[in-house]
Amino acid sequence: MSGDDARSIAEKLTYLSGFGNEHSSEAIPGALPVGRNSPQRAPLGLYAEQLSGTAFTEPRAHNRRSWLYRIRPSAVHPPFARTDNGTLRTAPFNQTVPDPNRLRWDPLPEPAPGTDFLAGLWTLGGNGDVTQRTGMAVHLYHANASMERVFGNSDGELLIVPERGGLLLRTEFGLLHAEPGHVALIPRGVRFRVDLLDGTARGYVCENYGAPFRLPDLGPIGANGLANPRDFMAPVAAYEDVEGPVEVVNKFCGNLWAATYDHSPLDVVAWHGNHVPYVYDLRRFNVIGSISYDHPDPSIFTVLTSPSDTPGLAGIDFVVFAPRWLVGEDTFRPPYFHRNVMSEYMGLIEGAYDAKAEGFVPGGGSLHNMMSAHGPDLETFDKASSAELKPQKVDDGLAFMFETRWPVRLTPQAVRAEHLQQGYDEVWQGLERHFRPLH
Ligand SMILES: [Fe+2]
Repeated sequence: MSGDDARSIAEKLTYLSGFGNEHSSEAIPGALPVGRNSPQRAPLGLYAEQLSGTAFTEPRAHNRRSWLYRIRPSAVHPPFARTDNGTLRTAPFNQTVPDPNRLRWDPLPEPAPGTDFLAGLWTLGGNGDVTQRTGMAVHLYHANASMERVFGNSDGELLIVPERGGLLLRTEFGLLHAEPGHVALIPRGVRFRVDLLDGTARGYVCENYGAPFRLPDLGPIGANGLANPRDFMAPVAAYEDVEGPVEVVNKFCGNLWAATYDHSPLDVVAWHGNHVPYVYDLRRFNVIGSISYDHPDPSIFTVLTSPSDTPGLAGIDFVVFAPRWLVGEDTFRPPYFHRNVMSEYMGLIEGAYDAKAEGFVPGGGSLHNMMSAHGPDLETFDKASSAELKPQKVDDGLAFMFETRWPVRLTPQAVRAEHLQQGYDEVWQGLERHFRPLH
């Protein structure tokens, strides 16, 4: 399908609204059973199948599962066989020496012709262990072809952060449209295919091996604010009734496995549940900050969090630096100098980030690992320490952070990459002593 056709489909999509809702949808009236999940015979000759994203017995507030009513059960497939992992890598990441240095990369180079979203995934690094369902991976992607094949990830959920080029995601649950400035969340195990709307696409992916992303608690903020649940859009049911060979790729414990089905697995005619994909427009984030003094910790910008077993300690926080007003009095307004037990991977979707005057570009990224010292560069520091503190709108960029509990260990390809910048440390050179003892 051409990008134009895919775009006209993408721009007409309708959605169901609300993160974590018990959604339901049917592409044909009457396809969804009423009053039970697994009737003796499901409507329209469909098969009923449950997809569990959490253990059966997890607390109701965190339980994720959906019921799918499909032309064939997922169980109908030939054996999977190993296929090339390309540049996709999975935890445990133990091939390189953990690096305490501040590191920064330019965008990925142009891909070879015919590179689809899956082939375009390039792993920077991560932490944890996929077989223990802990930790995360940071991937980038750069693609120039729509997927013909279908991909499903047994290893975790995928938070896709487009930076360049629109995407049409055809999932088992229906279709989603994600443009730069949006994020798409594909839950563990959900199969999908990516059409490119602009011929080429580039961006970031956080792969979450741990507990599914959820909205953070709001505490004293109250009942509203940050990412509002109703702004998360789930698809309406849409199915493919395709007989004929379809390649299906499954990532399982770090390796890609492929099988050629005799039908499309995107054959779900109706569904209900809360283990569903979403798109979310980051510009809808309700940015909350200081209206007196000081820069709040960036946790105030958390969009989604994957909790760990320790209260308050996230496996991953996904954080956005969205357009906002700065009004702090007697305050150094850019992000402060910092050393953090958590590890921070930052990317830039567009424009510029208010702590880095140059070198941090859209499609690139920086890694400030556990306890590595970071903060504004010299130019930003000089400007911000002498700026007149009138109200100031920061609206020239959209940056984000994957903040994670464990250090990010790099893949060999990230260490060797030609787009790894040399001399990143220099941005903090020239921050000279201004100390003047009074006596
Ligand atoms: Fe930081």
